[in-house]
Amino acid sequence: METADIGVTGLATMGRNLARNFAHHGYVVAVHNRSESKTKQLMADHSDEGAFLPASSMAEFVTSLRRPRRAIIMVQAGPATDAVIEELAAHMEPGDMIIDGGNAQFTDTRRREAALKERGLHFVGTGISGGEEGALNGPSIMPGGAAEAYRDLGPMLESIAAQVDGVPCCVHVGPDGAGHFVKMVHNGIEYSDMQLIAEAYDLLRQALGRSPAELAEIFREWNRGDLESYLIEITAEVLDHVDASGQPLVDVIVDQAEQKGTGRWTVTSALDLGVPVTGIAEAVFARALSGHPEQRDAARHLQGPNGTAPNYSLVEDVRLALYASKIIAYAQGFDQITAASEEYGWNIDRGAMATIWRGGCIIRARFLDRIRAAYEANPGLPTLLADPAFAEALSEAQQAWRRVVSTAAQIGVPTPGFSSALAYYDGLRRERLPAALIQGLRDYFGAHTYRRIDRDGTFHTDWSGDR
Ligand code: NAP
Ligand code: ATR
Repeated sequence: METADIGVTGLATMGRNLARNFAHHGYVVAVHNRSESKTKQLMADHSDEGAFLPASSMAEFVTSLRRPRRAIIMVQAGPATDAVIEELAAHMEPGDMIIDGGNAQFTDTRRREAALKERGLHFVGTGISGGEEGALNGPSIMPGGAAEAYRDLGPMLESIAAQVDGVPCCVHVGPDGAGHFVKMVHNGIEYSDMQLIAEAYDLLRQALGRSPAELAEIFREWNRGDLESYLIEITAEVLDHVDASGQPLVDVIVDQAEQKGTGRWTVTSALDLGVPVTGIAEAVFARALSGHPEQRDAARHLQGPNGTAPNYSLVEDVRLALYASKIIAYAQGFDQITAASEEYGWNIDRGAMATIWRGGCIIRARFLDRIRAAYEANPGLPTLLADPAFAEALSEAQQAWRRVVSTAAQIGVPTPGFSSALAYYDGLRRERLPAALIQGLRDYFGAHTYRRIDRDGTFHTDWSGDR
């Protein structure tokens, strides 16, 4: 007993593969699941892959771990996670460590960390990205919690993480809920990446009448340039896939995008922090719009164009619009990380976040290396758009981007991602915004006061003479 280096409880898709990944790296892994059948299945299928210690009860699981004990929970977020934490903690001793690798809300992680600290236990809320395949072969890992806990746990996590250019896709993000917060923003960015790809596909298909297979070729070509990424790569695969019915698979899939909620969490948090993450918000709302078939049926007769595009180089323009909109979406996501880091005192290194997203996770892309370089050159960068390389890329793309947004409006293809990204770009670069008028209105109806450009202080106008 007390020989396992680490334990995993919750042996569904993710937990099972994570346990195997640890075993493949030479660790002795204790394994446990509420229903013992999953533990037995893991042993039946994979016990020859490394050193596993199966446990049939939580007490046995904890006892099999060497001290300080390290137990990873991979169960559903919410009440299930609370229940497992409680059961684990009851068997643990001061100095031991509970690691939650599920998709928890960062506010839950903060609450759990504070409560377990009172009992002398470390709680490490850890974002793990890369799905089933990543968990087995190298995920991107975003651990929060105390630096002291990371000193002990970090080397093990770094060894099983994806590696890019010899650098592990795992770093201590910051205290308490910082890891789960960053994982949440990662998922939000994933939503906007997918929305922008879907808009590019829709526009080219509608405007140019290209088939899914022809569009797959375009995405394949794009994957050889600035847009190179896992999501662009698999877009080509999905578009190329022909269903057993003989039709392109994309044409037989119901066009209603579902969501488990991490995108919505990102937007809710951004609203609380006052950060305009318009790209992520539009992506969440576009999924919501798609999911209202009754409204879509009722609106189908509304007037509007349904035409093709003027004959110009739309493919290259859409590529540039996609790249520019992607820069905006990532800039906004990193702004949200900056704001939360300040709000909660996390001191997050943004360049390090870009570094650990280069491999293992769904948004992995060549592009993230550019973000890493931007923060390396200027760690205090107020927005990614101010980085000279991104500013130049946006300036090169902007005419094409404007043509794409106006073409989409003219032919009646919705591009909320491209359009809102362009509005954000134009909003940021404006010398004066109409926010001045909004302040005037607020002062008029509610005496909310305003600040002036020529004097310090707050001012109120006596509007009675104007009424
Ligand atoms: P899951 O379907 O989210 O969870 C199933 C596991 O939770 C089973 O082991 C189940 O045990 C256990 N469980 C549920 N309620 C429980 C309770 N009250 N007490 C004890 N155990 C309980 O599994 P998953 O897909 O592997 O995901 C695990 C976690 O990783 C989740 O938080 C998920 O959001 C996160 N995640 C998933 C992915 C992915 O691609 N799937 C990627 C990253 C992160 P029983 O067998 O006894 O029912
Ligand atoms: P990753 O970090 O690898 O992207 P993830 O955070 O679990 O993994 O999410 C990947 C995808 O799986 C997301 O599309 C997510 O759903 P949402 O888009 O609605 O957020 C989905 N997903 C996450 N947890 C899931 C679960 N327990 N069951 C089914 N799908 C899930």
